[in-house]
Amino acid sequence: MAWKEQLVLAFLTWILEGTKGQDAQVTCVFSGRCILPCKMKPHVGDEVIHWYHTKNTDSPVHSYYQGKDQLAYQDKKYKGRTSLFPDQIRLGNESLLLSDVKIQDEGRYKCYTSNKEGNDETFVNLKVKAPVQSVNITVAADTLTCSSEGIYPAPVLVWSTVPPSDLQQEKEPEKQTNDQGLFSVTSTVHKSPNNTFICSVTAGDSTHTASLRQQSEQQFELFHIKPQS
Ligand SMILES: *[C@@H]1O[C@H](CO)[C@@H](O)[C@H](O)[C@H]1NC(C)=O
Ligand SMILES: *[C@@H]1O[C@H](CO)[C@@H](O)[C@H](O)[C@H]1NC(C)=O
Ligand SMILES: *[C@@H]1O[C@H](CO)[C@@H](O)[C@H](O)[C@H]1NC(C)=O
Repeated sequence: MAWKEQLVLAFLTWILEGTKGQDAQVTCVFSGRCILPCKMKPHVGDEVIHWYHTKNTDSPVHSYYQGKDQLAYQDKKYKGRTSLFPDQIRLGNESLLLSDVKIQDEGRYKCYTSNKEGNDETFVNLKVKAPVQSVNITVAADTLTCSSEGIYPAPVLVWSTVPPSDLQQEKEPEKQTNDQGLFSVTSTVHKSPNNTFICSVTAGDSTHTASLRQQSEQQFELFHIKPQS
């Protein structure tokens, strides 16, 4: 590469990184609804709005011009899941309402607008979370298995005991993803008498804990501890 091209590339990288810091950050709950903010100067008419996922700039997530939604070229992944706030557009609010949020929706979005006075663009960085809903411990002959499912991002599972003891873990906690991109995690430990077993599952800012106390040879008591975030 010639030094000139390198210089141009370095400059472009600098611009991209420079603007990235100003992205609006939005965290959406999996399968929920969520607003991607985009605020411009109040408009003067003839507004054109294009929302793009920056991974796919060929098909827009949502378009609006000539006073109405224009969805003929919409990215199929967003079909039926997007809308603007029509009565707000005049006031410069081009925010996008996204529903039935999917893990694949994560990433950087561009809000492009233009009108008689010029054009503008802003960016939104979207993250998705599926908080830990519950943690289960099941008892077998000489093992305990802790499990949790429907989680995003990737969970961390940690066992402990009261009083503290060396836990014999069969193997590292096993993580799997389903076709929606949600994680499940399971882990098995050897049972030992007179301990309370505690299993915590954490993903992002959500934690759920379950604990199991052996009361006698056959009797167990399972506690679910509410999430702390
Ligand atoms: C745009 O309008 C929607 C719906 O009234 C509102 O929830 C949102 O906060 C507005 N966004 C901005 C950036 O003003
Ligand atoms: C935990 O157990 C309950 C009741 O058996 C069940 O409804 C739930 O789906 C289980 N949760 C997980 C994460 O396995
Ligand atoms: C567990 O506790 C019971 C009753 O307190 C005691 O008899 C037994 O020896 C203890 N077992 C072990 C392995 O510490």
